[in-house]
Amino acid sequence: MARVVSGIRPTGKLHLGNYFGAVKSFLKMQEEHECFFFIADIHSLTTHPTPQDLHNNVHQVLAEHLAMGIDVDKCAMFIQSDVPAISELYTYMNMNAYIGELERSVTYKEKKNSQPKNINAGLLTYPVLMAVDILVHHGDFVPVGKDQQQHLEMTRTFANRFNHMYGTDYFKEPQAYSNTGELVKVPGLTGQGKMSKSSGDADTIVFDEEESVIRKKIMRAKTDAGPTEPGQKKSEELQNLFDIMELVSDASTIAHFDDLHQNATIRYGDLKKQLADDVVNFVAPIRERIVHFKNDKEALAKAAKIGAEKANESAVKTLKEVREIIGFKKFY
Ligand code: ADP
Ligand code: TRP
Repeated sequence: MARVVSGIRPTGKLHLGNYFGAVKSFLKMQEEHECFFFIADIHSLTTHPTPQDLHNNVHQVLAEHLAMGIDVDKCAMFIQSDVPAISELYTYMNMNAYIGELERSVTYKEKKNSQPKNINAGLLTYPVLMAVDILVHHGDFVPVGKDQQQHLEMTRTFANRFNHMYGTDYFKEPQAYSNTGELVKVPGLTGQGKMSKSSGDADTIVFDEEESVIRKKIMRAKTDAGPTEPGQKKSEELQNLFDIMELVSDASTIAHFDDLHQNATIRYGDLKKQLADDVVNFVAPIRERIVHFKNDKEALAKAAKIGAEKANESAVKTLKEVREIIGFKKFY
């Protein structure tokens, strides 16, 4: 069975974009492959969270993913820092990663521009840690978006370099997992581009959020001045709302508002109210499950423990083999 590895950054609460763009495919993958999904809390240290924030973020993400249907009996859902072998392998792999290639990473260059006051070594070696996340489990496939493809390419470089250096074929090259056709890009509420926390709070529909807040955000979503004649093409802002409707509303509801737009009698207030109702209906049961899991210490502990056991079993085996290949020999 193919092995899939994917890391989830514990930053902020899950929004509709994350669900339709990532979590939904996790749910499918856990049925079909041997999956290692993990909360990348070591990676998140590059942003210097307080201990309280770090813990709260991991708690939130774990509860959210269990609420969405990640099943710990079907996959390994673990917390990165629960697997010390990752940190040890990271030390070894850092010896074969060159500063020049790390400096060419697009995400590193972006961070250098966006946060010039906090360019720590962890940011520079982020791709090494990500490579280790994958290689430590001998991942075959990694579901990655466009922004992570360079990291995956670097993972292959590090794997091959290790193999070449030690004259082995120990690590295999992980490939991008193609989600073609399954994943949709969810647009945001503020007009342009995809829904993203980096575009601000008003852009996202967050699962763990009060109904009244969700309604308010949708009623304030960006639209245009309205069609002036029948048959007019939808503006990007309006199309965004229709695109979100595609995900949460009935076909007949969408057709109804499409018709109203076609004959230029649509009232955006009505459209938004309907969309708000449908989003709230979609979100409410999931939100209830998130609240339930957040308070269910036992379920969280059980999930994290099972995940850690599965991940440690795989990682410890890899580390043992790597230590032998590198030439660490015991004198005792
Ligand atoms: P954000 O853009 O809000 O910071 P992340 O970068 O943390 O979200 O994304 C986590 C996962 O969710 C990634 O796999 C990403 O591709 C997916 N994702 C995020 N936003 C969207 C979106 N609007 N549409 C589809 N997928 C998305
Ligand atoms: N870098 C990924 C992101 O920003 C998260 C991540 C860390 C990851 N390690 C990984 C993804 C390993 C896939 C495999 O979204």
